[in-house]
Amino acid sequence: MAQLWGGRFTKETDELVYRFNQSLPFDKRLFPQDIRGSEAHVKMLAKQGILTEEERDSILKGLDSVMQDVESGKLEISGNYEDVHSFVEAQLTERIGEAGKKLHTGRSRNDQVALDMRLYIRDEIDETAELLHGLLEVIHGIMADNLHTYMPGFTHLQKAQPVTAAHHFGAYFEMFRRDKERIRSIRERMNECPLGSGALAGTTYPLDREYTASLLGFDAACRNSMDGVSDRDYLIEYLGALSIVMMHLSRLSEEIIIWNSNEYRFIELDDTYATGSSIMPQKKNPDIAELIRGKTGRVYGALESLLVVMKGIPLAYDKDMQEDKELSFDAIDTAKGCIRLMSGMLQTSTFQKDRMAASAAAGFSNATDAADYLVRKGVPFRDAHTIIGKLVLLAMEEGCSLDELPLEKYRSVSGAFDEDVYEAISLKECVEKRMTKGAPGDMEAALEEAGKYLTN
Ligand code: ARG
Repeated sequence: MAQLWGGRFTKETDELVYRFNQSLPFDKRLFPQDIRGSEAHVKMLAKQGILTEEERDSILKGLDSVMQDVESGKLEISGNYEDVHSFVEAQLTERIGEAGKKLHTGRSRNDQVALDMRLYIRDEIDETAELLHGLLEVIHGIMADNLHTYMPGFTHLQKAQPVTAAHHFGAYFEMFRRDKERIRSIRERMNECPLGSGALAGTTYPLDREYTASLLGFDAACRNSMDGVSDRDYLIEYLGALSIVMMHLSRLSEEIIIWNSNEYRFIELDDTYATGSSIMPQKKNPDIAELIRGKTGRVYGALESLLVVMKGIPLAYDKDMQEDKELSFDAIDTAKGCIRLMSGMLQTSTFQKDRMAASAAAGFSNATDAADYLVRKGVPFRDAHTIIGKLVLLAMEEGCSLDELPLEKYRSVSGAFDEDVYEAISLKECVEKRMTKGAPGDMEAALEEAGKYLTN
């Protein structure tokens, strides 16, 4: 068991304790960040005269050779090392001897792991924002193709008023746009370097923390060393933001599942994004959408777990915090996978535009427009509402839509109706006359604005 400590111990660690405590099997993921952090630390130590230039060069060369061996597959990150930090230091010292033992001057694994995790999450934040951008592009494409694809808009999953597919997807565009911006704003807050916080109380060596911070692309060094080693807020924020992304993906998945159902058939999933049944030959199932909906629970679970892990920890570092890794890695991988899959699934799906329009035409989704027609003829809205309600009942008895109801039936309820009612309640009118900002008739402008957002 290679350990970075042991001087004050007289007995070997119990085997079970060793395994329980060990984080290498999962924190090996932080290897590139650990190397990067060590390189910056060592450059700073030499600049401050704490290490000689020869020692610096020897350590940098050693770190590079460890990196190369891992990248080429010659060296596996495994074995009896407590964590990735111990692994790197042991490998380094094995290669370059005495100088390797100086790498840890003015540093603790507490600020080291705080740094590694921050570097890792910073990259993940950038990647998630990119993936969301890709999803937004797909949605933008769907909007562009479906400015005149009429479909029912729903409330209570009952047909409410006609909209377009562009309008419906425009709503998702806004959700994922906010998600992307939310994630980007976390980056701004978290971009402070914890290295140099030491175990908790800084160090007596004359470190230049701002220099290390700038080498690693941080805006500044964090202001309080206790906070530096203890803060995992940014991770909670990120998991929170990912949970919101998942909530949006899950709602969209639910709609895709409904729209792909035999009853709706608004959308046809591509064979490459659907699965079959082992017993029922006719089945083509939306498993991917269902899995995204299911995996949402997993990401929420990670957020909840980390909140609970952190809630009772006294300052500064406590080993509980090691639990931040597995659940975060899993949640991040899951969320990124889901964004990718949703993008691909949407991009390859076909919209059954005729069925969508037929569904919008049936089911009285133009009833509000019929009432508005009466209002334009001088009938107070509340009376118009009642009149149209009666006509809906009549049409239901006749088994037809409002568009198909003969004019004499209209007139039997109110003399305010004329032949022009049919144009007023046509799908085209209902949708395209709704020109208030953000309404289905305004989607050309929305599309243009969205396009500008994507290219900026
Ligand atoms: N493996 C630890 C973690 O992930 C980092 C090491 C800090 N260990 C310590 N004994 N102070 O949090």
